[in-house]
Amino acid sequence: MSHVFLVGFMGAGKSTVGHLLAKDLGHPFIDLDETIEQDEGRSVTQIFAEDGETGFRSLETRALRALGDAPPSVVACGGGVILVDENRALLACEGRVVYLVVTPGEALARIGGTESRPLLAGAGGVVAATSLLTARESLYRASADIAVDTTGKEPSTVASEVLALLKGVEVE
Ligand code: S3P
Repeated sequence: MSHVFLVGFMGAGKSTVGHLLAKDLGHPFIDLDETIEQDEGRSVTQIFAEDGETGFRSLETRALRALGDAPPSVVACGGGVILVDENRALLACEGRVVYLVVTPGEALARIGGTESRPLLAGAGGVVAATSLLTARESLYRASADIAVDTTGKEPSTVASEVLALLKGVEVE
């Protein structure tokens, strides 16, 4: 199956752009965080509070594995999906990976409140976001077939750029 996976930091626009891409491609849209929440009957915040980040990451891997049986879809992944080796291998096997690039400042502005993002909630705002993004940047780049800078762009512009670039990426 060949999915289109959107990866990138919280607030990069993965869900918003993903919906637009799915519509353009005529594919279903899947939000991996929402899939996990539905499967678990718990919010991401609850899962982090009860099972910790490690518990959440296991559920994320399970949800990603299950996509092997799904029809070609556009999948918005949680921002930390690239942290786990198996996840990166699954992304590479199951489709094309698009990295939506965003600055920490713009990410925080787009997110608004951080209550639903346990890794940013109560942390030091732009400093915490910058350090988290810096630690992840090379993994986002290494996982991605294409990268699109979203800074200052409308979601529809980003979606058009992604579509144009995807045409140049071979589907295995
Ligand atoms: C996370 C990002 C969140 C969610 C969880 C952890 C991360 O998803 O999966 O809070 O580690 O960056 P979004 O990127 O959709 O906000």
